[in-house]
Amino acid sequence: MVVKAVRGFSDILPEEIPTWRKVEEEARRVLEAFGFREIRIPVLERTELFARSIGGETDIVQKEMYSFLDRGGDSVTLRPEATASIARAYIEHRLYSRDPEARLYFIGPMFRYERPQKGRLRQFHQINAEVFGVSHPMVDAEVMALLVLLLSRCGLTEHELQINSLGCPRCREGFRETLKAFLEERTRRLCQDCLRRKERNPLRVFDCKVKGCQEVMEEAPLLEDHLCDECKDHFLHVRSYLEELKVPYSVNPRMVRGLDYYTKTAFEVVAKGLGAQKAVAAGGRYDNLIAELGGPEVPGIGFAIGVERLLLVIPSLPPPPPPLLFIATLGDEAERIAFRWCYELKASGITAAMDHRRRSLKSQLRRADKLEIPYVAIIGEEEISSGKVILRDMRQGSQQNVPLDTFVQEIRERLGPSVHEAL
Ligand code: HAM
Repeated sequence: MVVKAVRGFSDILPEEIPTWRKVEEEARRVLEAFGFREIRIPVLERTELFARSIGGETDIVQKEMYSFLDRGGDSVTLRPEATASIARAYIEHRLYSRDPEARLYFIGPMFRYERPQKGRLRQFHQINAEVFGVSHPMVDAEVMALLVLLLSRCGLTEHELQINSLGCPRCREGFRETLKAFLEERTRRLCQDCLRRKERNPLRVFDCKVKGCQEVMEEAPLLEDHLCDECKDHFLHVRSYLEELKVPYSVNPRMVRGLDYYTKTAFEVVAKGLGAQKAVAAGGRYDNLIAELGGPEVPGIGFAIGVERLLLVIPSLPPPPPPLLFIATLGDEAERIAFRWCYELKASGITAAMDHRRRSLKSQLRRADKLEIPYVAIIGEEEISSGKVILRDMRQGSQQNVPLDTFVQEIRERLGPSVHEAL
């Protein structure tokens, strides 16, 4: 029986790679211009890290983590997101002592045991950017502006930045009670999960996908009406700085996000054409996370782009180009010469290919044609004795002779980097 990939874990095939690379390169370019430095974090963390940061009542921690006991008996988890890991690394390596305003980014796979569907995988990739050490609302606006800029540079055209304020523990505490009382009167309309959420973390009910619960939440009291003065003021400033940078946005007062560490600003970028999984990127401020994980009182804010989702809504780049030159051979001696030429050309950066299956000249040429290789050289006994090799330009339909003795050198000159780039 053929072994297949695990459900929800996808291969990324060669023809998809150019678009992946473009997105990753664009991310590196933009993030580095905005002062972010790359960090690489491990795939596996102690389970405790996520339970403490994302929140025990979230769907991620309750039902989506790939957690297991390692051979030493420790509970470990394949990271479901990167912010907690980056925060852990920031604390562990005391990065705050190097630069009080650290800007870090990370690109890599995340793992969540969700039901796979379009735009939702069990292994997916994120581009993460995090700013530590600044509570000024200008940074909130800058981070969102940079996210929108990056998404546009990747080719995303129809998108909307939605923002909200989730307040601080102080304003949330009062609101929790108000919301709980509201839900208490509507228990018959809530799903089993929300009945539990109502007790432990009523804000999570806003995030429920069950229709009945969503209908209840349409009428629910909103956090924006319960923000403390500081949070209200912060939100007003974030909005005015977004306007300063001319970044269009809308306020979504029911957005709560699926992770509990957020304070004040929370945001999502939703894209047309994504169906149910419409958030291509999301993030927010997390001013208490570092302290809650045992670090100093350092505020933070960041976002993550879902790369697979972004790729669904941006134009794809063409597949990687075929080799530049194919050397078709007839006979043992010609094969040996072509073997050496191919090696020398590839070593100097010219992609060359030949056939190693001893097939007829006709089928070798058919393969070169199928792969759309632009130049084909043919070498057989006749060429060896005449000292001339035929080089065919398949696009022009023309051909010319190249001396056998200086073949590699001539090809380097004729088909060197400039030809390659022009193709
Ligand atoms: P998140 O909303 O859980 O936030 O994920 C961010 C993005 O990752 C989503 O908007 C989506 O594009 C993508 N994503 C999430 N789950 C899946 C999935 N199963 N399949 C495909 N794509 C998915 C976070 O992860 C936070 N750590 C973001 C953040 C960074 N907040 C502050 N800093």
